[in-house]
Amino acid sequence: MRVLVTGGAGYIGSVICARLTARGHDVVVYDDLSRGHAEAVAAGVTLVRGDVRDADLLRETLTDARCEAVVHMAALAEVAESVAEPERYRSVNVDGTAAVIAAAGAAGAARLVFSSTAAVYGAPGRTPIDERDPLAPENPYGETKLAGERLLEQARSRGVLASTALRFFNACGADGVHGEDHDPESHLVPLALRAARDGTAIRVFGTDYPTPDGTCVRDYVHVADLADAHIAALETLPGVQGSFNLGTGHGDSVRAVLDTVESVTGLSLSRETAPRRAGDPPVLVAGNRRAQLELGWRPRRSLKDAVADAWVWMCRHPEGYAAG
Ligand SMILES: NC(=O)c1ccc[n+]([C@@H]2O[C@H](COP(=O)([O-])OP(=O)(O)OC[C@H]3O[C@@H](n4cnc5c(N)ncnc54)[C@H](O)[C@@H]3O)[C@@H](O)[C@H]2O)c1
Repeated sequence: MRVLVTGGAGYIGSVICARLTARGHDVVVYDDLSRGHAEAVAAGVTLVRGDVRDADLLRETLTDARCEAVVHMAALAEVAESVAEPERYRSVNVDGTAAVIAAAGAAGAARLVFSSTAAVYGAPGRTPIDERDPLAPENPYGETKLAGERLLEQARSRGVLASTALRFFNACGADGVHGEDHDPESHLVPLALRAARDGTAIRVFGTDYPTPDGTCVRDYVHVADLADAHIAALETLPGVQGSFNLGTGHGDSVRAVLDTVESVTGLSLSRETAPRRAGDPPVLVAGNRRAQLELGWRPRRSLKDAVADAWVWMCRHPEGYAAG
């Protein structure tokens, strides 16, 4: 299949491109490099630099490359930033998704896989979360992703585009060549690895949650498993459509992640207790039965695998992609 990957120079997108290419698909990356890295785009993959809201350039790119499908990852994805700049998030994440849908329709690319998020659920009433549970995002980031899912549903009901929305939980890990290099970084695994390496303190936000060890519990899913889910979603379209949780079905506490970082690196972490952050639910764990049954996808890697792979990548790229 010929596939356009928006945001393919980003963390998860670069791993998806590598695995799509390895499986024999032809890939074109469309990214404005505002948060991604040209160095993360695999050799042999064309990079078109453009804004995801530019429907004309998207259509031209799709038409020139004769793309049959789109993986739409390009987005702004920082919760705190979305609270400070909701209009910017609406523009990139909602208008951008509308532009991608319009361009795909005009260029005859009939399949689309969309990166959604666990943030569409807000603070869920039960765990693990089922796709039929209430959708009640608690921040602009989650709202913009839910709006993107709604746009896809409308296009689906008009019969113009077959689509799947994948609601990722906490992505982590690396694939040997591609890893996590955000600036600023907000994700626990790279932050903890960096703190272990540099001998700096890592903050634990809240130790009095109603969880077994008092710290927040999240579902950490290896980026290579996420990539494989995208491939499964692309290859099962248009027969299988809708929204799917992508997580392991298993939760790990912040303390458990930090313990894993210590055991993988052999270094000890200096842990600093900080107050709870507003809007952090105690537990977010994905029910993944639907993805298993309908997409035939099953996560195969553990948190320990992810931490070990992220550590190898960080040791090889101490300055991230900047150092080449
Ligand atoms: N990382 C996670 O844990 C996680 C969890 C849930 C959902 N997601 C979703 O997965 C996707 C990828 O996340 P990531 O962690 O790889 O983020 P990332 O920031 O590494 O990648 C996003 C890419 O989109 C590009 N981009 C941003 N705005 C753009 C624009 N206006 N035009 C064109 N390109 C633009 C960036 O340059 C970057 O390469 C996002 O849609 C995010 O919402 C991520």
